[in-house]
Amino acid sequence: MDPNRVLIFDTTLRDGEQSPGISLNTAEKLEIAHQLGRLGVDVIEAGFPITSPGDFEAVQAIAREVEGPIVAGLARTHVQDIDAAWNAVRDAARPRIHTFISTSDIHIRHQLQTTREDVKGQARAAVTHARQYCDDVEFSPMDATRADVEFTAEVCAIAVEEGATTVNIPDTVGYTMPAEYTAYLKRLYELVPGLRDIDVSVHCHDDLGLAVANSFAGVLAGARQVECAVNGIGERAGNASLEEIVMLLHTRGEAVGGLHSGCNTREIARTSRLVARLTGYAVQPNKAIVGRNAFAHESGIHQDGVLKERATYEIMDATTVGLDSNAIVLGKHSGRHALRQALEDLGFEVSGNALNQAFHRFKEIADRKKHVTAMDLEAIVADELREEVEGYVLEWFDVEASSRRPPHATVCVRRPDGTELKGSFTGDGPVDAIFRAINSTTGIDAKLREFRVDAVTGGQDALGETSVVLELDGRSAAGQGVSTDIIEAAGRAYVRALSNAVRRREAAERAEAALEPEPATP
Ligand code: KIV
Ligand code: ZN
Repeated sequence: MDPNRVLIFDTTLRDGEQSPGISLNTAEKLEIAHQLGRLGVDVIEAGFPITSPGDFEAVQAIAREVEGPIVAGLARTHVQDIDAAWNAVRDAARPRIHTFISTSDIHIRHQLQTTREDVKGQARAAVTHARQYCDDVEFSPMDATRADVEFTAEVCAIAVEEGATTVNIPDTVGYTMPAEYTAYLKRLYELVPGLRDIDVSVHCHDDLGLAVANSFAGVLAGARQVECAVNGIGERAGNASLEEIVMLLHTRGEAVGGLHSGCNTREIARTSRLVARLTGYAVQPNKAIVGRNAFAHESGIHQDGVLKERATYEIMDATTVGLDSNAIVLGKHSGRHALRQALEDLGFEVSGNALNQAFHRFKEIADRKKHVTAMDLEAIVADELREEVEGYVLEWFDVEASSRRPPHATVCVRRPDGTELKGSFTGDGPVDAIFRAINSTTGIDAKLREFRVDAVTGGQDALGETSVVLELDGRSAAGQGVSTDIIEAAGRAYVRALSNAVRRREAAERAEAALEPEPATP
């Protein structure tokens, strides 16, 4: 193995998916996993299989279908967790079980309510059990950076002794600082010499905005796996951002002895758009690498410099991260074959009914919009994936808007059991009216928490992409929609968010009825 190669462990579908309001269905997770494969990540942490049948099913589908990366499933140290993780990943060409337990006293005392001795025993038993199934086992001492380094070292030594092939050192609450993390890792290497023979990994959260800096410090201290998520999504302030780590290595790797990842950087922009679209988590405009302003120059002096020589104000070329790839253009006369070819060029394998459905959507849009570009196709395909789960569907709507009367909306919503419901309501504006009409028609009293509209491309006829976050019984859920008509896109997003919210409520009710607490996530 090349000693300068840094493994990219993507946790978008596990830690990233734990962000509030994100609820990806299996088809969406698969699409993201396929795209991560095209991006060339080394490991996909596909989920936490014990937490729900949906999570299990998605991890299993990814393990069975996605070729290339190692597919990992997360597990606490409990036997049932490890069994579920193994059953979910066992069909992958390269499966991994990732098990964890906290080593900080604050977690041991207050959350686990146990002792250090018990933690050592649980870590030993978990790694031994996981190794019976799988040759590739990762162990994480959770909250390591707030834990006593000597005790964490004892636990890591046990994991290594029992055959863990990767030991990951999480900065679970985003507390450490680069120099401190370096010192911590160096001390661990001294205390556990066996760490030199396996992969050491870093997993940093961004609570103080240091996730990427800390991860990089970890790599400089010897770690050769970085756990990160696309667009930096994840618990609270998120994880280290995958695109920042990959481009940091790509741009400055030579300055640090030739460190590099195996990612195809030209897939970064597309991966970021797909994740933003399916999760509903928009990327901030000035976000490094993938924000829409990351390669824009506003000041006259900068524009002048870049026109004369790009390198005057750009340290990376936008094409390196795939920002030039909107070349495909279809029009209303393009046929099924041209659409299929364009989708294939984008990496989507669409055939049979899915192709018919995509073609139908494409024709609808091409009738209203002159040119359909690669970005539009990405938006349409992502929108179709959202339909794969049974839920409420907005069949049709009428909205009357005027500056002299309150806007009024009538909607027809199909319930998951197929029955159609019709109803009307007024609102402060046309979008508010359609949302209220959907609530009153379905009898579900959801509260709107966030509503956003973005244009997929430039131009007056651009597709509108909407994102809705709503709250039902204290749980938030998100939905997205795409159309050339903003009100239609808003209505679609709202019913999808409603379907997700109802599904979450039903899952919680089932768990309560079975007297099982909702599964805890790390
Ligand atoms: O932040 C954390 O500690 C985690 C572990 C499960 C690795 O996500
Ligand atoms: Zn984490």
